[in-house]
Amino acid sequence: TWTMVNIVEEQIEAIQKQVGDGRAICGLSGGVDSAVAAALVQRAIGDRLTCVFVDHGLLRKGEAEQVERDFVASTGVSLHVVDAQQRFLEALAGVSDPEEKRKIIGREFIRVFEAAEAEVVGEAAEQGDKVQFLVQGTLYPDVVESGGGAGTANIKSHHNVGGLPEDLEFHLVEPLRTLFKDEVRLVGEQLGLPAEIVWRHPFPGPGLGIRIIGSVTKERLDILRDADAIAREELTRAGLDRDIWQFPVVLLADVRSVGVQGDGRTYGHPVVLRPVTSEDAMTADWARLPYDVIETISTRITNEVREVNRVTIDVTSKPPGTIEWE
Ligand code: XMP
Repeated sequence: TWTMVNIVEEQIEAIQKQVGDGRAICGLSGGVDSAVAAALVQRAIGDRLTCVFVDHGLLRKGEAEQVERDFVASTGVSLHVVDAQQRFLEALAGVSDPEEKRKIIGREFIRVFEAAEAEVVGEAAEQGDKVQFLVQGTLYPDVVESGGGAGTANIKSHHNVGGLPEDLEFHLVEPLRTLFKDEVRLVGEQLGLPAEIVWRHPFPGPGLGIRIIGSVTKERLDILRDADAIAREELTRAGLDRDIWQFPVVLLADVRSVGVQGDGRTYGHPVVLRPVTSEDAMTADWARLPYDVIETISTRITNEVREVNRVTIDVTSKPPGTIEWE
């Protein structure tokens, strides 16, 4: 629309003014905010922006590829990918406490991201260039919540990774700080980003790590990824993506139940479907998905994901339940 064209042009101009001929770095999470922020900055300063994507192995099926392939193809952004899957698996081995998982994932993420950041800064320095700007997908509600303040605050990045002693100091570039979520999606569409990214449901930072009840292993992640992909596919096919706030699929990895398939007894894992409606995630209601959609998801998951022999649905609102199970 006309207004979106204006917002995009205004923001591009503002970014050019702020960054000048400097260089910027931006972390991509796979979510819509960082993607739109990065795409705007790319439009403004081209390959003087470098994006960093840490693949921690806790994303859903196809999401890493959407960042590495589709986002890059639609924006021309220069992307630095860190494959940290093994590192996260090792750090999470044997851990089933939810808060412990969050702590580990958060800590590893910062370490890996900062190392990548330092590498990008170092590469620029070799060419006699400096990276002074860090792009963040801060939205208007985040600004209000944190008490406002100018967008010029500096943040310090402390490196305690081996061999990277220096503190990096960046100016923040926050091109979305006047926008609400729905406006960010429209800007994303305006910039030609893939619909899968622009219309993505909110997804927690710790990813599938907190949707496996029990410890996280590669095998369990793959099972959950397969079941989750089917649920998302069927929701999309039913045209319900925009009516549902989030649709976690949860793997009860430490639980087994008896089932029967063909002539054989199975002893597999249950998954829980957790579709919810919500305005802001503070409260939520369990979504009344049509029975035929639930039936298709259930049949497909039990047919296509060998280790899952039971599909259940969570009919708890928030409160008292939270959206995520951990
Ligand atoms: P709950 O489960 O508390 O979730 O009802 C509310 C919203 O927050 C998301 N969520 C998280 N997001 N890191 C995040 O970035 C987290 O550790 C985390 N835990 C929950 C959840 O997906 C929902 O949108």
